[in-house]
Parts: sequence; C-alpha cells; structure tokens
Amino acid sequence: MNIREIQEEICRLKKERDFCILAHSYQARDIAEIADFTGDSYALSVKAKSTPQQNILMCGVRFMAETVKILSPEKNVYLSNPVAGCPMAEQMDKELIRQVKLAYPDHTVVAYINTTAELKTICDVCVTSSSAVKIVSQLSNDQILFIPDCNLGAYVQKQLPEKKIKLLQGGCPIHASVTQKDVLTAKKAHPHALMLVHPECKPVVCDAADYIGSTSGIVQYAMESPEKEFIIGTEISIAETLQNACPEKRFYPLSKKLICENMKSTTLMDVYHCLKDGEGAEINLDNRTISKARMCIDRMIALGG
Ligand code: 13P
Ligand code: SF4
Repeated sequence: MNIREIQEEICRLKKERDFCILAHSYQARDIAEIADFTGDSYALSVKAKSTPQQNILMCGVRFMAETVKILSPEKNVYLSNPVAGCPMAEQMDKELIRQVKLAYPDHTVVAYINTTAELKTICDVCVTSSSAVKIVSQLSNDQILFIPDCNLGAYVQKQLPEKKIKLLQGGCPIHASVTQKDVLTAKKAHPHALMLVHPECKPVVCDAADYIGSTSGIVQYAMESPEKEFIIGTEISIAETLQNACPEKRFYPLSKKLICENMKSTTLMDVYHCLKDGEGAEINLDNRTISKARMCIDRMIALGG
C-alpha cells in the first residue's frame, strides 16, 4: 500500500471501529490529514470533552492522552505510540511538589498541562501555553506556585506583574535549548523576517520575539500576517506545516535543535496498526486519580474559555 491507500484504510477503519483521531499540531502532515481534529494542547482538551465516538486515539504524547481520559473517563482512550512521552511532564513528581507546597502553603498551585495525571491530583488549576496568562490573571490569590516550566512561568510573570509567581527549575529541554546566539544568527540570516516563538523558550529568546504564543497561535499569526518571512521558534514541524500551507511565504526554523523526538516518534503506520491490530497503549487511570485531576482541568476550561 502507498501512503494514500494507508490513509484511506485508516479513514475506513476509524468509521468501522468508532474511533475519533485527535492529533497535536506537532504531528506529521500525513497524520494531520487523517485526524478528525488537530490543535494545540488547550484546543485538544476542549475537544476531548465532546467527541461522539466511543474510542479516542491520541497522536501526541502521553500527558495529552491522559488529559483525554480524565475528561472522557467513560471512553476508551489510546496513545498511538506507547513510548511517546513528554520529558517535562516527568520532571517533577507528586512527593517533591507535596514538599514544596508545605514550604508555600498560601500559594495557589498552577500546573502546566504538560504534567502527569498523578501530579495534577495535588494542583489547583491547569494551564496551557495559550491560556496561562488569561487563567492566572483571573485567580483571586496573587501568590502563585507555577510548575514545572520556569520559562512559561517567567512569561506569565512578565504579563502579570501584580502576581508573585514562584518558579521551579523545570521546562522543555527542546525549547530551552535555544540560545541568544541562535536568535542573533537567525536574525542576521533573515533580517526582514518576523520572529514567532513558543513561551517554553527562555526569557532572553522571548524578549527578542515579535510574537509569543502556543503552537496554534504561531500558526494562526503567520497565516494571517501580511508579512512574507518568519523565523519559527518552536518544534520544527510547525515551520514545515506553515510552509505547506503558505507556499508564497518563507519559514525558517529558529534553531536546528528544535526537534522533539517524542512528538516525532508517532508514524502513520502506528496509527494504522492501532486501528487494525489494536496496537497502541490504552490509558487506564483509577477513579480517584481521574476525579482529583479533573478538578484542575475543568477549572482550566472554565477560566480559559
Ligand atoms: P501547545 O500548548 O502550544 O500545544 O504546546 C504543547 C507542547 O508540548 C509544546 O512543546
Ligand atoms: Fe514536551 Fe517539549 Fe516535546 Fe512539547 S516539545 S512535547 S514540551 S519535550
């Protein structure tokens, strides 16, 4: 079978087996084409609540599939490649955060959605990169403990100087690898390009950007902009997606290091075998974890909508 035939077979199987396929914006083009919905972490969370199908296949990383299960516990939820995890989500465990909470008992604990379901059970509210500023601004408590991404937390702090945000040293190893030197090199090579970056990048990188936003935010900004050249400061797939969507514009990755092996590990064949042979990892969470973790995700959706 060629790629087109595999895609057609996936579309036939997903109808026959009552599957909805959700794909994060970082997924490859051949996967995005067969997905029922693509988007950033926030949009995927909202969508997870309302899919009519009984089975959901997440093409992305494990915390995204867990979020779907938490929001739709009555459904069967699968992660298309069992080894696709987000290293940031594994950086801080429940015991560590329990200890930190003891040191900061008056703080509201804000968890980036890139955390495990287990860790979410002891947090107050979740945020995504596209909703963090909006959500933190609405919290009545000005004392915030923001975990785990110190770069996203620093970005929120800059937008909301009235809040006192305590940060821990976590973050995305891919986005945090971009340096000021990378920025200078890219700007020198493309002096007329606008620079669009994800807030998981370091403050020194964000400070030099023309726009800071989530994966979908970057895509939307570049597509709607009348400008013709863009330096893209997020995972390299977004520059590829934009280049396919807007052939008359030019997109340059901010750094060659912006490759997330975990997001790239899912292939079209993984999706095919999940639907045909039952491969993939079913997400199982106990009821207690689901109900406790759900509180902070529901709060995120209520405040972020
Ligand atoms: P978004 O919230 O922009 O989808 O980001 C998710 C992510 O993992 C970025 O690295
Ligand atoms: Fe996690 Fe970073 Fe990969 Fe996003 S790009 S999934 S935050 S490791």
